[in-house]
Amino acid sequence: METSNKYFGRDYISTSDWSKEDLIEVLEVSSKLKEMRHKGIPHRHLLGQTVFLMFFDKSTRTRNSFEAGATQLGAHAHFIDIATSQIAHGETAKDTGIILSSYGEAIAIRHDLIPGEGNSYIREVAKYADVPVFNMQCDIDHPFQTTADLMTIREEFGKDLQGLKIAVSWAYTKSYAKPLSVPQGLITLLTRFGCEVTLAHPPEFKLMKNTLKEAEENARKSGGKFAITDSMEDAFEGADVVYPKSWGIEELFSKPEEALALAEKYKGWICDSDKMKLTNDNSIYMHCLPADRGKEVSDEVIDGSHSRVFQEAENRLHTSKAVMLMTMAKKLPNLKL
Ligand code: CP
Repeated sequence: METSNKYFGRDYISTSDWSKEDLIEVLEVSSKLKEMRHKGIPHRHLLGQTVFLMFFDKSTRTRNSFEAGATQLGAHAHFIDIATSQIAHGETAKDTGIILSSYGEAIAIRHDLIPGEGNSYIREVAKYADVPVFNMQCDIDHPFQTTADLMTIREEFGKDLQGLKIAVSWAYTKSYAKPLSVPQGLITLLTRFGCEVTLAHPPEFKLMKNTLKEAEENARKSGGKFAITDSMEDAFEGADVVYPKSWGIEELFSKPEEALALAEKYKGWICDSDKMKLTNDNSIYMHCLPADRGKEVSDEVIDGSHSRVFQEAENRLHTSKAVMLMTMAKKLPNLKL
């Protein structure tokens, strides 16, 4: 039996755009789809539909979870390499949104490397598209990642996350200046669920001011906490969840080599066994991946008993599918297990 679908046609650009109740529904649908896939129960509810995937940056998890997820839902995910499309010649977000809307049923975009551009671009496409638009990572948020992270945390600690202690920490790397969107998405989402979030970073590696303000307000409303420290060890002390990862400097994305040079001062910001000893016994280590082994995290930790990174990566599939199903199906199917 199918039911009417209040989510049909909605964009998923920031988790902040969705109410807490609606996000919980995304998580419930994700869990059902996970169980159905594990049991081999077909769920091809988007037959004949197309989702366009526009990538301004590289990807492994995001692209492949959307492509595999669309296939499992009976839809087709159509990859658009920006460099070989007319977007590279300057075709506007408006025209792109209108045209792709006339060919398919959803548009997903990754545009994450230029602060001030990605989120605005995605919202401009969404303004003119008459199909749902998904943010596959921008300069501000990475909503599909953080939704999968929240799903993973609930699988580990249950649905009531009030008072759960979470350390979102910067970590050292020399590979590339990574976007700010994951830590920003985490602090703004997890504070809505009553978590006690501590953000740790060296002084130069600040997050965008608006996201800090949002996290503070969310913590106040939910009865959670939001604190900032310049010590990875302080953030890890007594933590239930640690999420250490590298990010760049907002003002230096046009000169990433300068941000990487500054990072060299902070080689000690690695998540290793000594740091994990500061956390609770049943704590979990998370990372959106790709992780720079030996720099952001030691092999011992990422391959060890605290690590949940592969469960977290798998959950990218289920959460992407849940949002596609909820926003692209005219009638929401009854997901029978
Ligand atoms: N975590 C994540 O978004 O991975 P990709 O960059 O591989 O998509």
